[in-house]
Amino acid sequence: MDRKKFLTLSSLGLSSLPLFSFAASAGTKPIVISTWESGMGVNGAAWEVLSKPGGRALDAVEAGAVHIENEISCCVGLGGYPDRDGIVTLDACIMDEHANCGAVAGIEQIKHPISVARKVMEKTPHVILVGNGAQQFAIENGFPKEPAELSEDAKKAYAEWLKKSEYKPVINIENKKQNGPFAPNFFEDGSPNHDTMGLVAMDANNNLSGAVTTSGMAFKLHGRVGDSPIIGAGLFVDNEVGAATSSGLGEEVIRICGTHLVVEFMRQGYSPEAACKKACERIVNRDRAKAKTLQVGFVALNKKGEYGAYSIQSGFVFSVKSGKENRVYQSKFILKNDGTVK
Ligand code: GLY
Repeated sequence: MDRKKFLTLSSLGLSSLPLFSFAASAGTKPIVISTWESGMGVNGAAWEVLSKPGGRALDAVEAGAVHIENEISCCVGLGGYPDRDGIVTLDACIMDEHANCGAVAGIEQIKHPISVARKVMEKTPHVILVGNGAQQFAIENGFPKEPAELSEDAKKAYAEWLKKSEYKPVINIENKKQNGPFAPNFFEDGSPNHDTMGLVAMDANNNLSGAVTTSGMAFKLHGRVGDSPIIGAGLFVDNEVGAATSSGLGEEVIRICGTHLVVEFMRQGYSPEAACKKACERIVNRDRAKAKTLQVGFVALNKKGEYGAYSIQSGFVFSVKSGKENRVYQSKFILKNDGTVK
């Protein structure tokens, strides 16, 4: 989905979305949950796998991530926004029902980082490969090296950003007010900051897996890595309990080992929604003033096929596909637009 279409959907179509309530999550399988409304297409690709006899959650989440990596988006894949040096660097990770996991960070000119992450998981004794080493591994494993060109949208956004070259990884509350509650994280100039694609799925055999793919924060320092490729931060799967993924300001998610925390709360008996809320509260309660300036959202799925989400600010939405539903929900959130707690 291109950025214009994304913004149009965001501003026109989504304000009528239902607010997710845990009561709606009755529990079913197979099921796939993705961050953002672009998760609808992602879930469709994952469902092609999940709906087939024997379809494995691991294959489904990879297919979902590949789908969005093929789109032109501000925030995922080679069409994504570059770092402050004008270079697109991608992060991705994947985790299966056996706690096998693989990741790549800061990889350049490779179209499908999620599939490279899976190869890291399956073909090496390691979990994360970064930068040139990740690219070298990808090429050795048959992934073509793509041209280092920016997408047209990314070129325009980068040229605009260069005028001030300000690095402000924060949301603009005024902009959010103007653009409505569904405005994703915005830079001061109104351009979207990032919306990572994370998805978690459970297959008909009760096995969970998850995947995350992103171009990371727009105009980041070259070499910056967020939460997305870090197991326990951007993604965590425990096949006894559940799975969780995140979107938003990765540094804050890393500080609390966000998705591991969400899964541990579910282990303690919290619903997926309550577990996501408690993880958001952990960030907010540590520094309320800072929390007003940032967005983090979590989505989670438990072993019963129940799911939920929570975010710090308004504007986080997530997509669900199962045999019972195929829709986008607004996530509940902690802070009102003026920064006070709801
Ligand atoms: N959550 C994505 C990032 O911070 O890069």
